[in-house]
Amino acid sequence: MAATEVSSLEQYNFDIVKKFSIMAVVWGLIGMSVGVYIASELAWPFLNFDIPYITFGRLRPVHTSAVIFGFGGSALFATSYYVVQRTCQARLISDGMATFTFWGWQAAIMLGGISYMLGYSQAREYAEMEWPIDILVEVVWVTYLALFVGTIMRRKQPHIYVANWFFLAFILATALLHTFNNLAVPVSLFSMKSYSLFSGVQDAMTQWWYGHNAVGFFLTAAFLGMMYYFVPKQAGRPIFSYRLSIIHFWALGFLYMWVGAHHLHWTALPDWTSTLAATFSIMLLLPSWGGMINGIMTLSGAWDKLRTDPIMRFLIVALSFYGMSTFEGPLMALKDVNALSHYTDWTVGHVHSGALGWVAMVSFGSLYHMIPKLWNTKMWSQKMIEVHFWFATIGVLLYITAMWISGITQGLMWRAFDQYGNLQYSFVESVAAMHPFYAMRAIGGMFFVTGMLMMFINVMVTVRKAVRAEAATRAAGHAKITGMASA
Ligand code: HEM
Ligand code: HEM
Repeated sequence: MAATEVSSLEQYNFDIVKKFSIMAVVWGLIGMSVGVYIASELAWPFLNFDIPYITFGRLRPVHTSAVIFGFGGSALFATSYYVVQRTCQARLISDGMATFTFWGWQAAIMLGGISYMLGYSQAREYAEMEWPIDILVEVVWVTYLALFVGTIMRRKQPHIYVANWFFLAFILATALLHTFNNLAVPVSLFSMKSYSLFSGVQDAMTQWWYGHNAVGFFLTAAFLGMMYYFVPKQAGRPIFSYRLSIIHFWALGFLYMWVGAHHLHWTALPDWTSTLAATFSIMLLLPSWGGMINGIMTLSGAWDKLRTDPIMRFLIVALSFYGMSTFEGPLMALKDVNALSHYTDWTVGHVHSGALGWVAMVSFGSLYHMIPKLWNTKMWSQKMIEVHFWFATIGVLLYITAMWISGITQGLMWRAFDQYGNLQYSFVESVAAMHPFYAMRAIGGMFFVTGMLMMFINVMVTVRKAVRAEAATRAAGHAKITGMASA
């Protein structure tokens, strides 16, 4: 083990990074398995079994919360704590606060999941948690912000590396979004029911200002923070253009905040808000692609790594999906395209090309890079990482292809008229037409989740072996000391 590696293991709080990394893998497995189950419910509705707790409507937010906040959130806590300590060369300012964020976050997701299955929900997408859980999240998040900013302030480096800028924007924006979107009046102190402070169009606008910035800052900016650290590290080269990364950062931060209304085209919103959102969405293409090119070009001169290194492959394929979904998004934000895509599975396909292709893949790559370093070992099976990569790639491709076909078919069937001006198809005919694609999506999900299971096994065996080896080394050291003392 290199001397610098020994000192970094002692100098920093990596215990918290380890905990969050393990939970990212655990939540990934749970959340994606629920994803496969709800995908199967859509294909084969008997799977609802008439049991209210596991119906599609209740399990759907369990899926979205477990994958976005459980898997994605835990991966972000882990990597942001790792990156901020290493790039600032400073330990987190408080171990107690860090531990609180861990238990608080895990408790919130667990309570959220249970409450959705029992039927408690604010009915705001990605913000379904009722007010007591929201308050817990608020306290955890403010602690996270204080910890992150405090650590940056005690840095030994004058420079703040760009990954930390992205993480900080994500933490700040999420605090703002969570607070305002959840302003609500509880029915009583002892009830899990509340009413939003907003109503009508303002309610919809606030929700989608939240919803899209959850995409922009949680599912995008934060994972870009991950990308800006782990891609150069894994490639063993500096980032292609530091200047481009700064432009990427400011442009994203500025543009994302305006686009929420593209989720509400052709509704009761004033038309100009729709136009504004569409315009800013188109502008978003430029910085998004700038960032993607910056990440991919970091590999220039070392392209051979793509053949030999499955972790690099995860990271670069993730960037390609980032590019693809940020091309598709602006396209769908055009009012005429949205008239076809909205309410259809095209949206779900777009979501998962971002969520599986970008968010999950970049997390897999980063966790595979970081986990052996944290436990000062090597991954148990390199071959399994390789196989995971192929299962994940096949899974995403099956998923999004199925959704594109079903989405566009739905859109076209719903707007088809016969020669007398009547609708050509009944709604139920469009549902029947979806069946093969829903089955195909469920199969794609099974591929993806099988890869996730491989990761789970690989990580657990790696960690167990590392912990045992460390215990044996300690015991040997202890025996040596006691032997010397008694001699
Ligand atoms: C095995 C993998 C996965 C499968 C099979 C799966 C399946 C599903 C299904 C069936 C839905 C409901 C679609 C509908 O309402 O018509 C859904 C929604 C959603 N999933 Fe997944 N999912 C998976 C992984 C993920 C991951 C990793 C993320 C995020 C990081 C994610 C984020 C979402 C989001 C945001 C929605 C809501 C989409 C919308 O409202 O348009 N999913 N997923
Ligand atoms: C330039 C970037 C992007 C733009 C302009 C954009 C635009 C859009 C548009 C127009 C919709 C459909 C709204 C509707 O008809 O209801 C949408 C939905 C969505 N997008 Fe994107 N997108 C972008 C990137 C991404 C990325 C990278 C992700 C990452 C995971 C993502 C996640 C989502 C989600 C979760 C939804 C579904 C929201 C819902 O209805 O529940 N988007 N996006």
